[in-house]
Amino acid sequence: MNVGIIGAMNVELERIIERIENAHTSEYAGMQFTSGIIGTTPVVVAFCKVGKVNAAICAQALISTFDVTHIINTGVAGSLDARINIGDLVVSTDAVHHDMDVANLGYALGQVPGMDTLAFPTDEALGQLITQTAQRLYPEIAVYRGRVASGEQFVRSNEVKQHIAGEFGALCTEMEGAAIAHTCYLNKIPCVIVRAISDKADGSDAQDYPVFEERAAQRCAAITLAALEQLA
Ligand code: ADE
Repeated sequence: MNVGIIGAMNVELERIIERIENAHTSEYAGMQFTSGIIGTTPVVVAFCKVGKVNAAICAQALISTFDVTHIINTGVAGSLDARINIGDLVVSTDAVHHDMDVANLGYALGQVPGMDTLAFPTDEALGQLITQTAQRLYPEIAVYRGRVASGEQFVRSNEVKQHIAGEFGALCTEMEGAAIAHTCYLNKIPCVIVRAISDKADGSDAQDYPVFEERAAQRCAAITLAALEQLA
């Protein structure tokens, strides 16, 4: 086992990187990869930056160059569901590109032509492990399992939010998960997306975003570290 951990935020990754023994940092495609051991599990922590292109390149590099066998993507997301509040957690069952639109040629919204699935399934065992770990560490926060919708935009209006929620039945929206799930699907590598909710994706809480982002990043890092202990 060799677990790749992809994050788009430095704060969160720093907390995980601190815990790596025999850490070795290298650069690939302009991204930073730190490999070593956490507990007894070999890991490679990758800082992918924002967006689906960066995320896909990062996931493929982890698989092809760093030989990871599993990928965990952690970060923050906007809620698409009235039940899901800031601070809650969403653990993926699958992920869809909400901005893929070839409907003029008869494809369903989100469908990538040539791919045999609309949404890319993520790994059930990893999903359960992360969910149980989160519930144990943070009994006060709600953990939801469901679809993640990714696109090249920070969703910040009720209109766009309702469109994505209604069209795809997704629980949260962000900018990397579907690209990582898509890359893992093509390579047959189990992966999971873990997102802490930082905002309501309707522009209502823009000033508070940095505070929630920092808190969410800390939680995601703690959950990932605790899950790694059990993966060994
Ligand atoms: N990441 C965190 N909040 C987001 C939002 N509202 N849209 C896209 N990515 C996000």
